[in-house]
Amino acid sequence: MFQNQPVSFSGVQPSGNLTIGNYLGAIRNFSHFSENYKCFYCVVDEHAITVRQVPAELRRRTYETLALYMACGLDPEKNTLYVQSQVPAHAELGWILNCFTMFGELSRMTQFKDKSAKHADNINAGLFTYPVLMAADILLYQTDVVPVGIDQKQHVEICRDIATRFNQLYPDTFTIPEPVIPKSGMKIMSLAEPTKKMSKSDENTNAVVYILDDRDTIIRKFKRAVTDSGTEVRYAEGKDGINNLMTIYASFTGKTFEEIEREFEGKGYGDFKLAVGEVCADALAPVQDTFKRYISDKAMLEAQMKKGAQEASYYANRTLSKVQKKLGFVQVRG
Ligand code: TRP
Repeated sequence: MFQNQPVSFSGVQPSGNLTIGNYLGAIRNFSHFSENYKCFYCVVDEHAITVRQVPAELRRRTYETLALYMACGLDPEKNTLYVQSQVPAHAELGWILNCFTMFGELSRMTQFKDKSAKHADNINAGLFTYPVLMAADILLYQTDVVPVGIDQKQHVEICRDIATRFNQLYPDTFTIPEPVIPKSGMKIMSLAEPTKKMSKSDENTNAVVYILDDRDTIIRKFKRAVTDSGTEVRYAEGKDGINNLMTIYASFTGKTFEEIEREFEGKGYGDFKLAVGEVCADALAPVQDTFKRYISDKAMLEAQMKKGAQEASYYANRTLSKVQKKLGFVQVRG
């Protein structure tokens, strides 16, 4: 579809609370993707309503997510950034794919099982068919690769199963996408429980550093980070807290673990924690400044959304009408 350029598609929940884990493990590297791929980044507000949302907050977070992605270096001239509900083809293909997805295979999705346990009072059909809408997102763009966290791998697999099934009935409809899971080396752990991944939904906000945390908060959180009873800044098995801080420091500075060990020789954990907080705050400061500028310019953000939705619709509608034609829907022109 794009003159031999492979397509990358990723969806992001409209939550402004992105963490340094999201930043270091994913977003920071997204801008390089556009050198080799035609990239789509979609703010998935339709997925968000599978759990109850406060409308004003959903609206605010939709703007914030777009502004934050742009502030992290995603150039809207090189990438297609848009909002899912502004491209109706997602919901339309989602419905069609529902008819090619089995009840049994959706019942096996671990995220559905987890979320229905967590929201026992609202196990709605949208929560159940969430992966089908996600499959529509991906398949509309004839996507080759889907960069996602490991927790979303099962959803990309069901997307492949749906696409393969559809292609067997109606050949050459969809490209079969591959998940691309970031290397675990970049996994950033919780500051409170360093054996657990840093998660934006962690109830203990001291365990998580958000991209938009101010300098004092960042430094305070790193000062309180859980470490072991040792004193030496050294990467070693069992020193999960220190290993995590070293990973963070290495990611922000580009230094190797050996260089870090040398730098902090003879110094204690306190000095090291402060240094990690400082490099993190320094690195995020320009992102935060840019974010503030973007978020206060609603007209610019809306113009970007409109441009993104137009671009995305062009490609999405091509796939949608191909599907409709294959199914036997009557198409009238003009
Ligand atoms: N389910 C994904 C998540 O929670 C978000 C998402 C929606 C997505 N549609 C997508 C990710 C398509 C990749 C491709 O993180």
